[in-house]
Amino acid sequence: MAESTTTWVPEGIDLDRPSAARLYDYLLGGGHNFAHDRELAHRFLKAQPHAREIARHNRSFLRRSVLFMIENGLRQFLDLGSGIPTVGNVHEIAHNADPACRVVYVDYEEVACAHSNLMLASNPNATIVQADLTVPEEVLAATRATGLLDFDQPIGVIMAGVFHFVPDAKEPAKIIGRYRDATADGSMLSFSQFTRDLMPEEMDRVVEVMKSSRDPMFPRTREEIIALFDGYEIVEPGIVPTALWHPDTGLDDGQDPNLAGILAGVGRKR
Ligand SMILES: C[S@@+](CC[C@H](N)C(=O)[O-])C[C@H]1O[C@@H](n2cnc3c(N)ncnc32)[C@H](O)[C@@H]1O
Repeated sequence: MAESTTTWVPEGIDLDRPSAARLYDYLLGGGHNFAHDRELAHRFLKAQPHAREIARHNRSFLRRSVLFMIENGLRQFLDLGSGIPTVGNVHEIAHNADPACRVVYVDYEEVACAHSNLMLASNPNATIVQADLTVPEEVLAATRATGLLDFDQPIGVIMAGVFHFVPDAKEPAKIIGRYRDATADGSMLSFSQFTRDLMPEEMDRVVEVMKSSRDPMFPRTREEIIALFDGYEIVEPGIVPTALWHPDTGLDDGQDPNLAGILAGVGRKR
């Protein structure tokens, strides 16, 4: 079947402009991407040969952080920059632990939203909102309108692998602060993003490559990421490479954790 006739391809999408959502899907072995995304992915892999492991480690962190939040009593999640559904989506992890969990996904990318809508059509406890997470008022209004989340109870806010697409000019600390202020005490933040701290040369090359996509990248230092957790108490082990955040059984395949490329952590709203 031609790509343009499949059900997950939204009307009017610009197939010539590669997106981070479809690049990430390709790196994770998914099939919801187009020729220009795959071409970008090959340039990304040349710039950062560990890109596939980085994506898998990030996904693994996401899973472990959701389970951690569930162990800490949370039953509702707002997943900002949720991406194209793949193996181990937040609602699957959450519903496996407790079918009563509620999940609202948010992404601005057309394929991510179309595929999520297809997957969640008959699921009463999970939905997706198509919106730009850098406009918190719109995202929060649309999230409230779904009726799925109770903002008087703690919410697990997830920002996994997404804030490296938010430039300083958009004031990321203020954006995160708006979500923090909208959620009840005891809410948690799961956060991960690319850094230059671990592999600076590769990161610089990746930034160059991504300038040709619709999602240019802005790596941050560990100190800058810690500052984004303002108003949250960062839980142990702090802000660390994804592979080192509550690993299941030691390190995945014994690799150097710095090759995880992305720094991650979880905070509890004070
Ligand atoms: C690398 S994927 C991460 C997916 C998932 N959170 C994970 O960690 O596996 C980043 C996602 O963030 C989305 N994204 C980037 N900037 C965004 C914005 N301003 N508003 C909403 N979504 C955004 C992209 O479309 C993409 O689907």
